[in-house]
Amino acid sequence: MSETLSNLSREERRFEPPADLAANANLKEEAYDRAASDREAFWAEAAERLDWGQKWDQVLDWSNPPFAKWFVGGTINAAVNCVDRHVTAGNGDKVAIHWVGEPEDDTRDITYSQLKDEVSRAANALTELGVQKGDRVAIYMPMIPEVAIAMLACARLGAPHTVVFGGFSADALASRVVDCEAKVIITADGGYRRGAPSALKPAVDEAVEKTGDLVRNVLVVRRTGQDVDWNDSRDVWWHDVVDGASAEHEAQMHDSEHPLYVMYTSGTTGKPKGILHTTGGYLTGTSFTHWSVFDLKDDDVYWCTADVGWVTGHSYLVYGPLANGATQVMYEGTPEKGRWWQIVQDYKVSIFYTAPTAIRTFMKQGREIPDGYDMSSLRLLGSVGEPINPEAYVWYREVIGGERCPIVDTWWQTETGQIMISPLPGVTAGKPGSAMKALPGTAIDVVNDEAESVGNGNGGYLVIKEPWPAMLRTLWGDDQRFKDTYWSRWEGLYFAGDGAKLDEDGDIWLLGRVDDVMNVSGHRLSTTEIESALVSHPKVAEAAVVGAADDTTGQAVCAFVILRDSAGDGGEDIVEELRKHVQKEIGAIAKPRQIMVVPELPKTRSGKIMRRLLKDVAEHREVGDVTTLADSTVMDLIKGKEGSSS
Ligand code: WTA
Repeated sequence: MSETLSNLSREERRFEPPADLAANANLKEEAYDRAASDREAFWAEAAERLDWGQKWDQVLDWSNPPFAKWFVGGTINAAVNCVDRHVTAGNGDKVAIHWVGEPEDDTRDITYSQLKDEVSRAANALTELGVQKGDRVAIYMPMIPEVAIAMLACARLGAPHTVVFGGFSADALASRVVDCEAKVIITADGGYRRGAPSALKPAVDEAVEKTGDLVRNVLVVRRTGQDVDWNDSRDVWWHDVVDGASAEHEAQMHDSEHPLYVMYTSGTTGKPKGILHTTGGYLTGTSFTHWSVFDLKDDDVYWCTADVGWVTGHSYLVYGPLANGATQVMYEGTPEKGRWWQIVQDYKVSIFYTAPTAIRTFMKQGREIPDGYDMSSLRLLGSVGEPINPEAYVWYREVIGGERCPIVDTWWQTETGQIMISPLPGVTAGKPGSAMKALPGTAIDVVNDEAESVGNGNGGYLVIKEPWPAMLRTLWGDDQRFKDTYWSRWEGLYFAGDGAKLDEDGDIWLLGRVDDVMNVSGHRLSTTEIESALVSHPKVAEAAVVGAADDTTGQAVCAFVILRDSAGDGGEDIVEELRKHVQKEIGAIAKPRQIMVVPELPKTRSGKIMRRLLKDVAEHREVGDVTTLADSTVMDLIKGKEGSSS
């Protein structure tokens, strides 16, 4: 860690905000003082940007920490704020979504008026299917407009949704459906992936099998037209029930603290955590940060490349931008050579938000590709998901941003719901690699083991000191785990799980996770979850997983396994067999890059696996201090195996 710290400290490039952006910025420097002098008044003002049924009586109730209530007594409907109110305000003809399908020329432009009709129809159809306020609905879909429509229809009814990333396995879907007891699943026959249809419905069928008689209906959008198995008493086509439904739907106002959604994310144990977000505070936090961090103006064309299966897709593709009445691009595919830049050129995208892993992939492919497109419409670039290394930052700025666009490196989490640390594009001089400062209205510090501020020039743990509107309210059905995971390490501080450093100017540098969570291509994966998947294979006796540094994906999954005696040497294809097994259990993103079959694992005398040493092996370093190992020769055995497996 010390080497990284000193490397980062040598970064001396600074990029001042463009003068015109600074002069017209949505949020100016005075916001920091204003927010610090009265945080609640600051957030109340942000909440005023939304339409409320009943106004709140109290901005924040923090009388029973860590259980926060924001805008207490207020009532609000998220879908009305994201859709109807823009139509009422006379902006019905404004494009809400420029949707770009993966197959070339497969596009749809959807105005706010059309979105209102579609969301209302879907809300009516869900009501017909018996979905009531409070019921949970699972969504497992490709990146098509219906996924946003489905989410907003649920929000309109007050039926919390849980979106499961379409790349996750049937098992992962089933465990989430069971955990939040979803009675309805919305899906599609399939989606397009790298030029070919990729089925989704079979995974849903398999998941439903595993959940007993919990799931009453599966609502299926026809996207690819591929053949699907059909259960007449359970499955319903979207076009049969939504297209014919009435476009009139009277929305009810819900309590500000009514659950909006549950999003599952990896924790340090095997079982994913159901992060609960509620309505009023979440919509306030996401819409305000989307407006201020991206300096959104009425004529901007915004594009966030995240999939809706992750929190970024929730906060900065659905709720934030739509609450702000933005025009945005939604793309079905994955990053491929020039396709993204073609879209930027065609739709004159002005604000672009993506992840460092994508930027590094484009860097590898060479600047000739983006250089072939006219990207002069861009005026602001964003980054999220993992630390952006200075080289990738500078490349992004020069090659994509034409050296004129400021970059906002935004730090936040599924749990925080909203961006917490970021430059303000009209205020902050950017430093490549630093996420800079806590946003106005948030309170962040870096502390040591004793919870003392480390002060400038030092590293420690990132903590949040004051509640914020879009904060998670609890873990679905598990208040105790919520307290234990985030609030038990130090009294009154939210522990984010990230290491960080304050530089000499007091700016924040994120240094990655300090727990057993890996970050692969900006996606969180738990080492324990992958270890459990490996151990569930009949040939595996024990497994240990570490995240090893990777040039493109940030970290990559590396596994060390001990085979059962009965498995012999496992056979030639054991590594591939195990990789496939992990894909089946969790999903393709969890597939280890490398699996090493080893005779032993390094353990302390109390039996704890020393992952630090395995990481040394995975990263081809000299193995560190082995004196606490129960058997110090184990590392020689493991090192001896290096290179024998792939
Ligand atoms: C990491 C994604 C450095 C961090 C929004 C955090 C980052 C985890 C950044 C949350 C950033 C996210 N710089 N690290 N700008 N953004 N992270 O829940 O480790 O999928 O704890 O939310 O990603 O991942 P999650």
